[in-house]
Amino acid sequence: MLDLPLFIQKPPSTANVISSVYDAVRSFVIFLAMMLSFRYDRFRARDFDPSLHMSDLKGKVAVVTGGNAGIGFSTVKHLVRRGAKVYVASRNESKAAAAIFELQQEPNIGQLEFLHVDLLDAKDVKKAAEILLSKEGRLDILVNNASLLIQEPPQFHQGILDYMLVNHISPFIFTETLLPLMKHTAKEHNSDVRIINVSSDAHHKASPSIRFRNIEDINTIYSQYPVPFYQRYCATKFAGVLFTEELQRRLDAERVPIIVMALHPGNVNTFANSMPYPRIAWWIMRLLFMDPDVGAFTTAFAAASPVVKEDERYRGGYLQPIAKLGKALDLENGEDLAKELWNTTESVILNLDI
Ligand SMILES: NC(=O)c1ccc[n+]([C@@H]2O[C@H](COP(=O)([O-])OP(=O)(O)OC[C@H]3O[C@@H](n4cnc5c(N)ncnc54)[C@H](OP(=O)(O)O)[C@@H]3O)[C@@H](O)[C@H]2O)c1
Repeated sequence: MLDLPLFIQKPPSTANVISSVYDAVRSFVIFLAMMLSFRYDRFRARDFDPSLHMSDLKGKVAVVTGGNAGIGFSTVKHLVRRGAKVYVASRNESKAAAAIFELQQEPNIGQLEFLHVDLLDAKDVKKAAEILLSKEGRLDILVNNASLLIQEPPQFHQGILDYMLVNHISPFIFTETLLPLMKHTAKEHNSDVRIINVSSDAHHKASPSIRFRNIEDINTIYSQYPVPFYQRYCATKFAGVLFTEELQRRLDAERVPIIVMALHPGNVNTFANSMPYPRIAWWIMRLLFMDPDVGAFTTAFAAASPVVKEDERYRGGYLQPIAKLGKALDLENGEDLAKELWNTTESVILNLDI
């Protein structure tokens, strides 16, 4: 019987073989899951161009979680090129510093600041939001972009499933803590305050019987599914859509003119580093998936296109690539489920004592 994890034993050669086979099968399954959701995204029509169709953002303040890499980095790029002051919220200061340095080589951009946030640590998330509150008198754009994408086996932090913590509970805490400042900004004449939750088309694959009654539901690991980690990802991305719709309902009821949107960025070439041969994987995926800068077009549109403010359909809406209104999964009990998720999230956070 194996009591100790393999990595702290000197592994016998058969264990090495088993581990290599496991890695190869795992990589293949990840690759297959991605290929199944493939949509020729590299060749999509692009009616939206951030350099032409985004509002001027001078004097505005934005924050992007996961702004150090991938779609988040490209989102920061589009926002700062329009003159915004952008907080690159990241768990890794050196990666964020490198990202900021790269962008600062461009002329005529806005300001860039680092904000430390580790979404696996609810206390840290609260602290990060409070630091931002102490530094800024306004917040115009919040982009909840960072996400846990591939993690097997499931891990639990503060009693919460890693996927749910990073992709839903922490963004909820971050948003709720920043909301008073955003509401304050929204009182200004001609304000245009937006909250963007980067979801995924994968949310359509959430289990039709999904519930959020209690922490046990939140912590569902979907072990009966062929690719459990992907199912967990789908559940959290669905939670992001429900959170978006419920937050918009609540803001509308309070007559706060903040716009909340969820979106699918498209299939974007950001996965190569989790593949066995990253350079080769990057080139193959480049042929099929969007470049990250294009992958961030839909987020840039949601964050700063003037079109959004003029059309009620964007309030609580779901966008698909590139910059188009789409249709989110619409379960019969969607609104009740969103309220259930909201209430359970609040009670989970209450128990965290943060
Ligand atoms: N790429 C696609 O095809 C695709 C498709 C649909 C939806 N999306 C969505 O798009 C968003 C961005 O994904 P991406 O493709 O750009 O992924 P990515 O390149 O892997 O970037 C993910 C970002 O999230 C950050 N992050 C992960 N765990 C974190 C934590 N505990 N605390 C703070 N930051 C954390 C990462 O930071 P580190 O650099 O420190 O790891 C990184 O900055 C995600 O919400 C994803 O679900 C992507």
